[in-house]
Amino acid sequence: MYYSEDVIEEVRMKNDIVDVISGYVKLQKKGSSYFGLCPFHNEKSPSFSVSRQKQMYYCFGCGAGGNVFTFLMEYENFTFVEAVEYLAERSGVELPKAEYSKEAKERAGLKARLLEINKAAAQYFYVQLKSERGKAGYTYLRERCLSDETIRAFGLGYSNKYSDDLYKYLKSKGYQEDMIRQAGLISTDEKHGVYDKFWNRVMFPIMDVNSRVIGFGGRVMGDAKPKYLNSPETPVFDKSRNLYGLNRARSSRKPYFLLCEGYMDVIAMHQAGFTQAVASLGTALTSGHAALIRRYVQEVYLTYDSDGAGTKAALRAVPILKEAGISAKVIRMDPYKDPDEFIKNLGAEEFEKRIAEAKNGFMFTLETLEREYHMDSPEGKTAFFQETARRLLDFRDELERNNYIEAIAKAYRVSEGSLKKLVSKMAVQEGMARPAERPRTAEGKPLKKEDGSLTAQKVLLTWMIDDRNLFGLISRHIRPEDFTGQQYRTVAGLLYAQYEAGELNPAKIINHFTEEEEHREAAALFNTRIRRLSTPEEKVRAIKDSLLRVKSNSIDVRMKNLDPTDMAGLQHLMEEKRQLGELEKLHISLE
Ligand code: UTP
Ligand code: MN
Repeated sequence: MYYSEDVIEEVRMKNDIVDVISGYVKLQKKGSSYFGLCPFHNEKSPSFSVSRQKQMYYCFGCGAGGNVFTFLMEYENFTFVEAVEYLAERSGVELPKAEYSKEAKERAGLKARLLEINKAAAQYFYVQLKSERGKAGYTYLRERCLSDETIRAFGLGYSNKYSDDLYKYLKSKGYQEDMIRQAGLISTDEKHGVYDKFWNRVMFPIMDVNSRVIGFGGRVMGDAKPKYLNSPETPVFDKSRNLYGLNRARSSRKPYFLLCEGYMDVIAMHQAGFTQAVASLGTALTSGHAALIRRYVQEVYLTYDSDGAGTKAALRAVPILKEAGISAKVIRMDPYKDPDEFIKNLGAEEFEKRIAEAKNGFMFTLETLEREYHMDSPEGKTAFFQETARRLLDFRDELERNNYIEAIAKAYRVSEGSLKKLVSKMAVQEGMARPAERPRTAEGKPLKKEDGSLTAQKVLLTWMIDDRNLFGLISRHIRPEDFTGQQYRTVAGLLYAQYEAGELNPAKIINHFTEEEEHREAAALFNTRIRRLSTPEEKVRAIKDSLLRVKSNSIDVRMKNLDPTDMAGLQHLMEEKRQLGELEKLHISLE
């Protein structure tokens, strides 16, 4: 972190969280909080809450949460420092000048520096492409029918034939070798010393959703292998959380994305007017991608290659998308291999037609499945329908399932009734008593079932910041060391210190963490959903339960870790255990 804690806190206090988030999400006041539709997952009724008092937000659906900085980190993909700078600007706080001297560069966060280096490299590649040395690259791109406008828009470039040219250039700009290496732009070996990772390739800068260069793909201009060389994963380049073209597709104002396989496909599509095209980065689609997509659209058209590998990839993608709440359709590309070739040969209008004819993802899956069965033998056909029925069980919504049954019955000429019966039979066989769906994280993973004592720890923390009196009461019995979750203990320690200094300020505690995931976890600690307790007696009972649970868990944990020869320690724990009994009889008054 390179701004002082005081400055960061000043920025935070001058940017009221309700005002900032209102710029992105429509909020409505409900009780002491504001509620709206969560921008981080798909929902129909609002579970996204923002509290002016706590200066925090929290989504009860997906668990997204934090303070005003976290929100911008999540929503705009900012780093912590970027979020601070953005809000400083918004509220007119003058930040201490960041000078771009050598020292300042060293102080700046690692991520920010890597982004800077990537940007400088992208500019360098672009200039090379347009120079005499870059002629081969430029000609190659023009021959692939890319216009100057497209080349500029995607920042395409060229890495020339000198194997340490970029390295020398970046060094001359004052970047350190170690940083350039961490950006994935150079390698070293004993024979050649330091050399550029990319040379003699046309370069595709890969940008995040905010158009910051996070990595590169480089293509050979002939048939050499590998065809594309990609940046390794770095602190700023996470392949499973970024999509090529998303920085442009996000503002295409189309209700769906076109998901392709390659860089060239995305570029060709955009050039042809399909600015809603994106691609994963030389990797299979992950649930991280799906969650990212879900922030923008609810529907995806897959335009994967029409070969076997492309079909396989599409089959894998359909359920991943569905899991994230995105419905998938599959576009037929034959007789061409990929969208780039299709557009080149048949043009945009024909592609529009293919979009209109796209097949529902599930029906596409069945069509492919069909090929694995002998559909002209009764046994084969029966087996196929059994498998189909089994897969239909994945639709938990009855109406949706019935709509599919109807469509399949029609397409495969079987009676709807017998298909329905088969589905019920499979349900019994499979044990339809599947576990109820649990809330999911933003990446679509089901939240782990939590250990009860951790829940109790969270509940206590939430109560403590909601009510100063409770803080006093609880803190008499529970010390920060009693919180056994690693982050819980850190947070509790900070909170207790605040309490003693007479200032309870949970949003400030979140400033201590710089990673989005840590913000999210800390926010969850202060926003545990507490069952609505109607009577004071119930509330007292619940507080007592949580207190006892946390304390006895703490004793257990320490007991387990106790050195068996530590007699004094053992005695001390026994004493605490005895006091537990007294805690049970404790009189709590909520007045
Ligand atoms: P394709 O082989 O389908 O290439 O790989 P393409 O996109 O049609 O490329 P052109 O048209 O021949 O230039 C699809 C994607 O898979 C990744 C790249 O992201 C590519 O865009 N890939 C492919 C690699 O990362 N490395 C490779 O060697 C090949
Ligand atoms: Mn291609």
